[in-house]
Amino acid sequence: MDYGMKNRLSRIIKPKDGKTVMLAVDHGYFMGPTGGLENIGKSITPLLRYADSLMLTRGILRSQIDPKIDIPIVLRVSGGTSILKDDLSDEDIVVSMEDAVRLNVSAVALSIFIGSKNEKQGIINLSKLVDKGYKYGIPVLAVTAVGREMTRDARYLSLAVRIAAETGAGIVKTYYCEDFDRVVETCPVPVVVAGGKKTGEREALELAYNAVKHGAAGVDMGRNIFQSEKPANMIKAVKAVVHKGLAPEEAYEREYNS
Ligand code: R5P
Repeated sequence: MDYGMKNRLSRIIKPKDGKTVMLAVDHGYFMGPTGGLENIGKSITPLLRYADSLMLTRGILRSQIDPKIDIPIVLRVSGGTSILKDDLSDEDIVVSMEDAVRLNVSAVALSIFIGSKNEKQGIINLSKLVDKGYKYGIPVLAVTAVGREMTRDARYLSLAVRIAAETGAGIVKTYYCEDFDRVVETCPVPVVVAGGKKTGEREALELAYNAVKHGAAGVDMGRNIFQSEKPANMIKAVKAVVHKGLAPEEAYEREYNS
């Protein structure tokens, strides 16, 4: 791995503890104006000081995020579908690597859909993106297991995550499951966990705690932060769990409930 790629990765996964709290706000690329992100610039800007990186699309980055804010960007570069379609797996690469460079991003992100009818397309796209990323020193984050019909157990997730890593992803994002150690142990690159649908704050903190305890490098969390009643407190609580190892209840009382 060359210097540029290592340097970018270390902006996302903090070298002091090997952990990260990524704030995911890219949902609109197929979900439109998701709850909590209707006025995305206004709702997200106050959270940026707490996030280790920000995952979003180029349209929102250019129009809503002040370029003077010092935050590593993970740019969503796959798309082409919407929630109106039955099959969300029919994605392609929709942003050039040159534009990602122009935006000075720290990584690019693309989804693969293992087990779907577009499985091959996703893997080929990931492969092409990794090749282009190497040209410019930009790591690729592969997002796995998004979709309605997937059984998110350790058997399936370790398959999806491993395929992403074998194809060249530098980070893999997936869902937490029982026996999560197995997913992490069989993946040669850092794994981060998505938050999923909004749950209670304590439950989301528990998820972050368990994910890290079982080997995740952190979380790439969206709805459980920006749909919370107190988003800034929630991201502070998630950070306390991921970076300081606080127990969920302690983080809830100290950071969320303060
Ligand atoms: C899904 O495709 C998007 O990449 C989201 O960024 C991801 O699901 C994480 O957000 P959440 O924590 O809301 O699940």
